[in-house]
Amino acid sequence: MKKLCLLGLFVSLASHQVLAAETPVPLENKDAFISNLMKQMTLDEKIGQLRLISIGPEMPRELIRKEIAGGNIGGTFNSITRAENRPMQDAAMRSRLKIPMFFAYDVIHGHRTIFPIPLALASSWDMDAIGQSGRVAAKEAAADSLDITFAPMVDISRDPRWGRSSEGFGEDTYLTSRIARVMVKAYQGETPSAADSIMASVKHFALYGAVEGGRDYNTVDMSPVKMYQDYLPPYRAAIDAGAGGVMVALNSINGIPATADTWLMNDLLRRDWGFKGLAVSDHGAIFELIKHGVARDGREAAKLAIKAGIDMSMNDTLYGKELPGLLKSGEIEQKHIDNAVREVLAAKYDMGLFKDPYLRIGKAEDDPADTYAESRLHRAEAREVARRSLVLLKNQNETLPLKKTAKVALVGPLAKAPIDMMGSWAAAGRPAQSVTLFDGMSAVIGDKANLIYARGANITGDKKVLDYLNFLNFDAPEVVDDPRPANVLIDEAVKAAKDADVIVAAVGESRGMSHESSSRTDLNIPETQRELIRALKATGKPLVLVLMNGRPLTILEENQSADAILETWFSGTEGGNAIADVLFGDYNPSGKLPVTFPRSVGQIPTYYNHLSIGRPFTPGKPGNYTSQYFDDTTGPLFPFGYGLSYTDFSLNDMALSSTTLNTTGKLDASVMVKNTGKRDGETVVQLYIQDVTGSMIRPVKELKNFQKIMLKAGEQKVVHFTITEDDLKFYNAQLKYAAEPGKFNVQIGLDSQDVKQQSFELL
Ligand code: NOJ
Repeated sequence: MKKLCLLGLFVSLASHQVLAAETPVPLENKDAFISNLMKQMTLDEKIGQLRLISIGPEMPRELIRKEIAGGNIGGTFNSITRAENRPMQDAAMRSRLKIPMFFAYDVIHGHRTIFPIPLALASSWDMDAIGQSGRVAAKEAAADSLDITFAPMVDISRDPRWGRSSEGFGEDTYLTSRIARVMVKAYQGETPSAADSIMASVKHFALYGAVEGGRDYNTVDMSPVKMYQDYLPPYRAAIDAGAGGVMVALNSINGIPATADTWLMNDLLRRDWGFKGLAVSDHGAIFELIKHGVARDGREAAKLAIKAGIDMSMNDTLYGKELPGLLKSGEIEQKHIDNAVREVLAAKYDMGLFKDPYLRIGKAEDDPADTYAESRLHRAEAREVARRSLVLLKNQNETLPLKKTAKVALVGPLAKAPIDMMGSWAAAGRPAQSVTLFDGMSAVIGDKANLIYARGANITGDKKVLDYLNFLNFDAPEVVDDPRPANVLIDEAVKAAKDADVIVAAVGESRGMSHESSSRTDLNIPETQRELIRALKATGKPLVLVLMNGRPLTILEENQSADAILETWFSGTEGGNAIADVLFGDYNPSGKLPVTFPRSVGQIPTYYNHLSIGRPFTPGKPGNYTSQYFDDTTGPLFPFGYGLSYTDFSLNDMALSSTTLNTTGKLDASVMVKNTGKRDGETVVQLYIQDVTGSMIRPVKELKNFQKIMLKAGEQKVVHFTITEDDLKFYNAQLKYAAEPGKFNVQIGLDSQDVKQQSFELL
């Protein structure tokens, strides 16, 4: 983390600053300042700093302020305006030692302006765009008095049944690691102590995306090599980029809950990786140690967690209740508490709060009159990022782009769905401010008679699913059915389709279907909507599917029926405009899948970078005694890295600068990329490497680099990648990270399957 440049301030008795020692300790000397402060803290005050509480609308504000003034709370989350947080900071300033509070929130893909969900951001493969989304989110959150976010979530997920796939950046270690770095830098800016920065806490440490069967909160059992090679690097990348915090995962790893795992938290995170920041438990995780069956009671749970190095306990009271007794009995030592307190104070220091507890709260007279004011949004940025994240999966007969003069039937339960457009974890985003697909298309078409809307189907016909999705929302039902019978809805849509030149069907999941606690056994589009698609297909009119969903879906049948498919995920406040930009050709799509699309749930997992096997299935050869499912076509529906454009690109003349590489050398891999179509366009040139023979089985290929390039129609360009020994290193059976001499295949392609290949030897 960057050093803070403070102006040689000294602690004084001024009202905003900490009442510290009689001997002034320079605020610029972080360690001495914190040690000095800790010397003055009582045990209760120390334990108070370890308490992180959620502020719900129903909570008695006066009581909370009293607790804060008594030194019993270190920070809050879910209170998100300056007006709400100021009285709490005032209370902290009335406490004996005036230790400032911090205010946290789940700012995951935007704060007031909602950007595309993380999986969609990853689909842009555009680090500048992703960084911009994070920077805007930080500025908006900081302007609302927030100091820290529980993001980025960098859990590698290879099982789309997991609803939280939507919150991560996909299945690939390299791509996720690059994004992890970008997001941390974007949130924290030059320094997390800046007034327009917020601290990042990377989550969920560790391996949460690998929960068994994609069932949320489940167990993880994983070999050390797989852990080190595939799942841990993105957390490490975030920490190396300076993330000030870590949120600890709810799952267990090889039989130990992460919240009680001293190896994970102390040996790996702090000792091996040198992490010096704040470790926060996930919601209620310390208490859950009892349910996991590793703690007999709350006392033992608190003991395990504090010894494992969990600094702050999110929303449970066990530290407050149990730590004094544990200390007294000698079951824990003072250092366990002190280490945790030190991390909390250091994080507050790094957020700039000791220098100015009101850094992000500001003065009351400057509070926004309306926190939802349009002027506080960043619509242009959101639209630009959103259109860069859309992935064109199919475009038969140049169905897209649509003519602006065409008569369009817009159907589907997601065509007018402002809440869903924002996706899950939409922070302080307001549905009324999000642009639906209907809004976006209307703005382009202008002539109302040329846009015929019919809902066509409800999200689901399954009452149990509907109730579940609505139970997830605290305020009002999110998924509201059209009460008319399914066949009436479909007939209306078919009539609209028959009157139109082309059909655009907005189908997929409601946002709650891809959410925390929303694991699915079935990845089909819900049956009500599939029936609608079948009826639309039967009209014979060109059919464009606009998919909205937070995970790969199984769309085998729909892929056969549709003429064009645009994957839009949940694309945020400006989603409707961004999608319309692509549908009508004002923006040429350039997104690529950060996850593999399986043909069926039974195929999962389908990640592209699987290990080599002894009996691989070979396309075109009989399948007998090879690794495959005999009852379906082998291979995914859409591979990792896949995505089309309105123009075409060709790759030619792939070359390596040498057929050998020595351990200190460099190799240049190049390819000629040509835009062979009639439109300017961007594409992502992807570099994969396969270590052909090693001391361990290596993946069939691994993404090692990529470049997103723009080419004018007819333009060509040679793209170069530099390969060094570092790109060839891996964790071997002894967990030593090293490259092994031998043959390597280098592949370059516009997706992970359709590639050119050359080889070299590492000497
Ligand atoms: C539980 C979730 O697992 C975590 O990701 C989130 O940050 C916390 N709740 C706080 O909202």
